[in-house]
Amino acid sequence: MQDQRCCVVVLISGDGKNLQALIDASSHSGYMISHVISNNPEAFGLERAKRCGISSTILNHKDFGTREGFDNALLQAINRKKPDLVVLAGFMRILGPEIVNNFTGRMLNIHPSLLPKHPGTNTHQRALDAGDHEHGASVHFVTEKLDGGPLIAQERIPINANEAAQELGARVLIREQQLYPKVVSWFASGRLCLQQNQAMMDGVMIPRGGLQFRS
Ligand code: GRF
Repeated sequence: MQDQRCCVVVLISGDGKNLQALIDASSHSGYMISHVISNNPEAFGLERAKRCGISSTILNHKDFGTREGFDNALLQAINRKKPDLVVLAGFMRILGPEIVNNFTGRMLNIHPSLLPKHPGTNTHQRALDAGDHEHGASVHFVTEKLDGGPLIAQERIPINANEAAQELGARVLIREQQLYPKVVSWFASGRLCLQQNQAMMDGVMIPRGGLQFRS
């Protein structure tokens, strides 16, 4: 019999802790990870996929002369798997409009900050430098705007006095691993969707800042 679960392709670039959390939760969360794609041949996440019997593809962006060339190859690699959902989990490449618009409402990203604060990289140090009292992680639908798509949910943690960026980042990453499988399972069960550029949960608009979770 055909597997009826939501079929997910995960894109990674690095260690893959979020990937691991998604794999671990998949047995009881209504989705299956059918394939992993990494732009980095050295990504430890590839090893994690292998250990769990999940197939993978390496698409090294350095092998492509242009961003469009890489995006085209990536689009083909994703489409070969016919996923219901594409999940960016520590994927460190900016995707062009061609590919993003192909997956409107079917592509999620996790970002290590309380968006719209601190889009881009080096978020933990920037939160400290800004004197923020709170930091965290955000999951959002991917749109053409970098780290700017409709927010779905955020995990918020207080910043401790004299905390170093590395320490703070490690605490955020733990929260990411709790948040991401939860959001993916909402999508898989049909509770979460994007309608007219608005994130919806159980038929109700999600507030602009996303659903809030605190430790
Ligand atoms: C995570 O903090 C993710 O939000 C960010 O990069 C980190 C990747 O961690 N974009 P991992 O590869 O899931 O371990």
